Amino acid sequence: RERTTYMDKFTRQAAELLAQLTLEEKLDLTIGADAWHTHGVPRLGIAPIMMTDGPHGVRKATESTMGEGERSVPATCFPTASALGCSWDPALLEEIGAAIGEECQAQDVQIILGPGVNMKRTPLCGRNFEYYSEDPLLAGELGAGLVRGVQSRGVGTSLKHYACNNQEWERMSISAEVDERPLREIYLRAFQRVVQGAKPWTVMCSYNRLSGTPAAEHRWLLSEVLKGEWGYEGAVISDWGAVDDKAASLSAGLDLEMPGPGRDHTARLAALVNAGVLSQAAVDAAALRVLQLILRGQAGKRPAAAFDADAHHALARRAAAECMVLLKNKDDILPLERAGLSKLALIGRFGEHPRYQGAGSSRVNPTRLDIPREEIARALGSSVELVYAEGYDADGATTEAKLAEAVNAARGADVAVILAGLPESYEAEGYDRDSMAMPEGHNRLIEAVCQAQPHTAVVLMNGSAVELPWFDAAPAVLEAGLGGQAVGGAIADVLFGVRAPGGRLAETWPLALRDTPAYINYPGEAGRVRYGEGLYIGYRYYDKKGADVRRMFGSGLAYTSFSYGALRLSAETLGAGGALTATIGVTNTGSRPSSEVVQLYVERPDSAYDRPPRELKAFTKLTLRPGETHSAQLRLAADDLLVWDTARSAWYLEPGTCVVSVLSQAAEFEVLADPHAPRLPFTRLSTIRQFALEPTGLAALKAVLNEVPFSGGDLPPQEQRMMAALPIGKLVQFGILTEERLQELLDLANGG
Ligand code: GLC
Repeated sequence: RERTTYMDKFTRQAAELLAQLTLEEKLDLTIGADAWHTHGVPRLGIAPIMMTDGPHGVRKATESTMGEGERSVPATCFPTASALGCSWDPALLEEIGAAIGEECQAQDVQIILGPGVNMKRTPLCGRNFEYYSEDPLLAGELGAGLVRGVQSRGVGTSLKHYACNNQEWERMSISAEVDERPLREIYLRAFQRVVQGAKPWTVMCSYNRLSGTPAAEHRWLLSEVLKGEWGYEGAVISDWGAVDDKAASLSAGLDLEMPGPGRDHTARLAALVNAGVLSQAAVDAAALRVLQLILRGQAGKRPAAAFDADAHHALARRAAAECMVLLKNKDDILPLERAGLSKLALIGRFGEHPRYQGAGSSRVNPTRLDIPREEIARALGSSVELVYAEGYDADGATTEAKLAEAVNAARGADVAVILAGLPESYEAEGYDRDSMAMPEGHNRLIEAVCQAQPHTAVVLMNGSAVELPWFDAAPAVLEAGLGGQAVGGAIADVLFGVRAPGGRLAETWPLALRDTPAYINYPGEAGRVRYGEGLYIGYRYYDKKGADVRRMFGSGLAYTSFSYGALRLSAETLGAGGALTATIGVTNTGSRPSSEVVQLYVERPDSAYDRPPRELKAFTKLTLRPGETHSAQLRLAADDLLVWDTARSAWYLEPGTCVVSVLSQAAEFEVLADPHAPRLPFTRLSTIRQFALEPTGLAALKAVLNEVPFSGGDLPPQEQRMMAALPIGKLVQFGILTEERLQELLDLANGG
């Protein structure tokens, strides 16, 4: 890999400074000074830099502790990652990242601790609201957008939590047991895409173990893959408190332990260096990267100017609408036509106390908060009466009285809007959900109101997929997610058609928890959790099983209809390192402006590898006015078709037919063999089929086997199938070949 140069300008300066440091000063740099700051080097006039949470807004504690949302400075709370994942819009993420970067500058923060790109392996994960998707391409492209945005403002990011932090249950001790291909192709792939595509200043290692080794001490993960294969030149920091064995973590490639200051850290490590237990080289390497980070943070500083809170709030409102997913819209009940309304019933406590973010380290103290009831009243104006019924309490429980009040309100109105979903206590950092169910009170309320009022829209506010037992009874269902501080206004915008719901699901919503891929392996036992489903996460699993789901990854309705033209490919073949473009015309055939997310999936019908039926390999989002046609361009890179070949222990471009599909349109091209791909040597364990699949192997088979009774090709079909899986060496045991002839065959097949 060519070395990236983005750190060059700090490398020389850092190296010169490093040469002047004492061992103690170097060791100090490898641990934080407190909860949020690095050390500096006062003697050389190097000031520390500050980092703080979180992925959807600045949470700068007002005191130097691990502050909670209430004790952090006001900042714009943007939609959380689970909502932003549904935007399918990296450019939007970049806009939001830039705004967060501006707010960091205003608060004198040099690094924001986000984005999180862990895969949504189970809907139960308490932190799913902080993650984008079940698909590594979507998560990677969105995470890269956020990183580009923040860093465009001279502020750094922290790509987290590297890696396999896919549940909160025992998150600080559990060992994720993941096979090589799913690890590479699914769980590390989004990290790789962001690291190589957007170069985050830092990568944060996770709390958990990977195959028994803590991520903070995982040499293969931190040094061989991240810094070696991917060429990462930023700093690897720990999650807060993730480092147990400081010497082991430094040796593995963890550059900065957080938080500080750590009791007797420096003295103990200095003793280990002097005793030869911890190498001076490891200390120098870590201190150099932290110095580079500090220099980069100092160089990025802008004069602390107040940020435009109104503009950021408006961005948050637009973003929340772009993230909303219309799951159902029977008889186009949405958007609501104000003209025909005289009374609207708004039902649900979220109407006055909206859920807009999740609990834990990511919690932001919002600059302001849109209240749905107020925003809807404002949108209705004085000509339409709004009646409100709380429907349930803060824990989601309802009572007969609350139900009766809500039903009466709904029955007496022209239309009812119910706000429901997951109360704050149902999902958070630090613990997982017990089920996919919404509170029983929410479900009972929805059932009762839908029965009483045929014109009802349900608006959900939740950070992860939920079961919808009342789905058939509800005319319209709009997923608002955890849409940030402006979600109240955005709900009004979408309900009344000021904006269209621009989202598509970034995670499949199953019918029930038992249908989910991780169901039989989550949460693990005796400190280990097996990712037994392998590659089959999310839609990859439901497609393979042909299982029914509530709503599939990538789905979502619009306030219009679209028609698609023919799918065209720019080439009929694709070779290693190359790319081709798929083009397809999309027309808004309805009467309202709306967004469409054009998604390109790839299938490999005759692959020699275990493959999901289809995989997302490109997407683009279009916003089209009524009647407008746009030609969507989807770039498909050969690098995105690579499989991790466990026999080669390398990425491999499998030659063969590739079928691309965009909705019902399909086209195909041929992937050409990579002449530089490492050849797999044939051995006595190689099967007859493996020989037959490679030209040199087939030629060798024909050259040698035709002289013996068995010639492979003229066996009856059933026996051919039986022979296909036969290791070639067995032909010696069966007296068909001598050892000498076997060796000749192997030499011939290996091009000897
Ligand atoms: C927390 C989280 C991490 C956060 C850090 C600092 O435990 O896992 O996402 O950035 O500690 O609050």
